[in-house]
Amino acid sequence: MNEVKSIKNICCIGAGYVGGPTMAVIAQKCPHINVHVVDLNEQRIDDWNDADLDKLPIYEPGLADVVAEARGRNLKFSTDVEKAIDEAELIFISVNTPTKTYGVGKGMAADLKFIELCARQIAQVAKNDKIIVEKSTLPVRTAEALRTILHSTGNGVKFDILSSPEFLAEGTAIRDLHKPDRFLIGGEQTERGEAAVQSLVDVYLNWVPRENIVTTRVWSSELSKLTANAFLAQRVSSINAISALCEKTGADVDEIARAIGKDSRIGAKFLKSSVGFGGSCFQKDILNLVYLCRHFNLPEVADYWEQVVMMNDYQKHRFSKNIIDSLFNTVSGKKIAFLGWAFKKDTNDTRETAAMYVADELLQDRAEIHVYDPKVTEEQIFADLEYLQTHRVGQYVEQGEVMSINEIRSLVTIHTDPYLAMHKAHATAILTEWDEFKTYDWEKVYNAMLKPAFIFDGRNIIDKDQLDTLGFEVYNIGKGK
Ligand code: NAD
Ligand code: UGA
Repeated sequence: MNEVKSIKNICCIGAGYVGGPTMAVIAQKCPHINVHVVDLNEQRIDDWNDADLDKLPIYEPGLADVVAEARGRNLKFSTDVEKAIDEAELIFISVNTPTKTYGVGKGMAADLKFIELCARQIAQVAKNDKIIVEKSTLPVRTAEALRTILHSTGNGVKFDILSSPEFLAEGTAIRDLHKPDRFLIGGEQTERGEAAVQSLVDVYLNWVPRENIVTTRVWSSELSKLTANAFLAQRVSSINAISALCEKTGADVDEIARAIGKDSRIGAKFLKSSVGFGGSCFQKDILNLVYLCRHFNLPEVADYWEQVVMMNDYQKHRFSKNIIDSLFNTVSGKKIAFLGWAFKKDTNDTRETAAMYVADELLQDRAEIHVYDPKVTEEQIFADLEYLQTHRVGQYVEQGEVMSINEIRSLVTIHTDPYLAMHKAHATAILTEWDEFKTYDWEKVYNAMLKPAFIFDGRNIIDKDQLDTLGFEVYNIGKGK
């Protein structure tokens, strides 16, 4: 094996939901390594540097403490991409890889333009050999494209490319990073490649036991990430498919999850039926997988995975349709309270949140929507709804009418008090499983709502018997009436 490079300076390109928390934890656990996180987005960097830790750009339990410990010691956030690249022996690329919205592969393939830009910039700036780590989620064999770009300058600088995808989930990112089920590193099976892998293993070893660091070939690592997300999303779509059957038959989906989850071959996690999965990654990564399968002429495999996304679209649509059907076939002019907007609890992230798709379908029927979410800003909610008007995808929403932001603003109100959001509402819909919703005074809510007072619990978090007793008309996911 070649000499293993000892890492003293790390650069991370991309200060988002992955780059920020991941690098903060590396800096916390490796005080002897300087970690420099860079981004093109000045506002985001200013927020990461804000003295007021409540203003960090990401809401994530435990993150503020980690940043407080390391920032100013060995953790730095800046927009000086070139300097950070120049100084580092190891560079994480952690930029966004959204679904393409144009041209070849539109609506399916991952857009790699940000990745390519990073590679070109590294190639241009680097004066000595560097280890480049793919932290972003990428199509299998992206490392090959990176290698071509990086080695195109002919200036003799050598790059070792590793894949080390991130498996953290939002809301539990710090816990996931402190105690990962595994960190994965894919590297080349050459002496140089093995030495590069060992350099990154040595970084992770500062707090992760060796048996939790898995090493593989590069392509396996890249494809493991897409596969993990596809399997996780598939479990949610599978239990959601069963929820539809439960509603027809009177079986209870939560009881079924409990019963099958006891089977150690199945396991209890990721069996919570819901209004549909959201988040920036599940849908994007499965569509990317589907695109790759079609590219490699595997249509049956592509169709199999695509069904996971189709089932998720169906689940969101089923929820909105049930609200409209239950409210006597129209929600026009009716006040519908939304509890929650984030795609899951304990995050302020709203990318691909089921809430916006449900809202969009109800707005098409001219509902008046009143939203309360403990962490999502008014600005973000309107940005999501406006974005959807021109970016509707999926079998149930493609045809929707495009509404202007003024029309949307005339129909949507954002509240900071949940009781006001539900006051005189025709119906309350629970879109996110925030713990605080369980603690509300539901009798007070019942008295303030119009009758019949409908509750559509898209997360099955409120005790149905209690709500029934109070007099609510309760609709749950996967529970027959
Ligand atoms: P994000 O959009 O929150 O952050 C990406 C950041 O990269 C942005 O701030 C953007 O300004 C910056 N950026 C883009 N191009 C740049 C460039 N050339 N130079 C400097 N900065 C640049 O995205 P994210 O949620 O952190 O996701 C990043 C990657 O990690 C994606 O591939 C995603 O699939 C993957 N991932 C995300 C999660 C998650 O929970 N969000 C978990 C695991 C993996
Ligand atoms: C997911 C994966 O869990 C991470 O391992 C991965 O790193 C990440 O995607 C990524 O690549 O971005 P995340 O999207 O942050 O993490 O959150 P999850 O906890 O996976 O939840 C995703 C969606 O599924 C949420 O809308 C959640 O409410 C929903 N979900 C999850 C259910 O409806 N039921 C469940 O049982 C679990």
